[in-house]
Amino acid sequence: MSSAVVTGIGELTTNDPELGRLADAALVVEDGVVAWVGPASSAPAADGAVDVGGRAVLPGWVDSHTHLVFAGDRTAEFEARVAGRPYTAGGIAVTVSATRAASDEELAANLRRHVAEAAAQGTTTVETKTGYGLTVADEVRSARIAAAEVDEVTFLGAHLVPPGADAAGYLDLVTGEMLDAVAPHVRWADVFCEVGAFDEDQSRTVLRAAAARGLGLRVHGNQLGEGPGVRLAVELGAASVDHCAHLSAADVDALAGSSTVATLLPACDLSTRQPLAPARRLLDAGATVALASNCNPGSSYTSSMAFCVATAVLQMGLTVREAVAAATLGGARALRRDDVGHLGVGARADLHVLDAPSATHLAYRPGVPLTWAVWRAGVRLR
Ligand code: NIG
Repeated sequence: MSSAVVTGIGELTTNDPELGRLADAALVVEDGVVAWVGPASSAPAADGAVDVGGRAVLPGWVDSHTHLVFAGDRTAEFEARVAGRPYTAGGIAVTVSATRAASDEELAANLRRHVAEAAAQGTTTVETKTGYGLTVADEVRSARIAAAEVDEVTFLGAHLVPPGADAAGYLDLVTGEMLDAVAPHVRWADVFCEVGAFDEDQSRTVLRAAAARGLGLRVHGNQLGEGPGVRLAVELGAASVDHCAHLSAADVDALAGSSTVATLLPACDLSTRQPLAPARRLLDAGATVALASNCNPGSSYTSSMAFCVATAVLQMGLTVREAVAAATLGGARALRRDDVGHLGVGARADLHVLDAPSATHLAYRPGVPLTWAVWRAGVRLR
């Protein structure tokens, strides 16, 4: 058994209901797990010690929505959008072509590069999706490559009906042979329920087939306009409905009365010129909110959870505490995980140390790289 005490914590955000936020704190890590948390003055002895010099410590970010198994680049599409062209689901097909053309090694290397980029900024849990393959073989290899690199993998064969395919035939494939082939590699299934992708009935068919195969459910919903995504996610008990940029009052009420997490993706809302999701309304109504990067080459090409937190505070009406909780504990809830997203006793020792005295600096100093050190399961990554 190995142990280490982290001392000199100026401000410790635990997200633990009993411990809350502590000043002048210490934390003991044993075999990659938090074994003790409390005032620095009463910290027990351990094999090793690290003094973080009065800096703020928070749980590692839990990025519960990314699309990192891809190849290629969509700078031209982004430039067209900046010049006024709207974002549509159709851009996905560009990444599908590039992804199919890439080798396994290229896809794995690109995924590792983005996971490392995120880790260097404090992200210690990553969910990622298939969805740029859209053939049985390409979806299976995306899932296999993802499962080797990240904690949580989602099957998103229902991202788009591939150009040239017939919608009914593709739906049969996604809910039959493709699902059977991908399921052993993934924990979750997702559907892009939106105009230009899959409608309500098609989405329900996809989600029911995945649930019958034992997968947990996630939904891309209400990204480009109001629609059935949120309603469907709640109806089917999905762990999360992601985007939520366009919500009716009924959607907000449905989320508030459910265990489905509203996962908000502010970097995507900004990049695609959608309204920022109504985070304040959701929290006030009692819904559980997560913040995630949605890192992908089309709609949101950033791995910065700090950017999402700063945006949530500066433009979406959340307090720093709420935004940090949404990007850590909220993400964990969206993934139905209780071992990450907090620093209570028994949590995985995922620590994000800021070169700042408090988490408030994430919004007070937006855009400034504040990550000073990162531990994942007690192992120092930077
Ligand atoms: O979450 N909305 C669907 N899927 C991704 C976008 C993928 C893309 O444009 O390549 C998203 O925004």
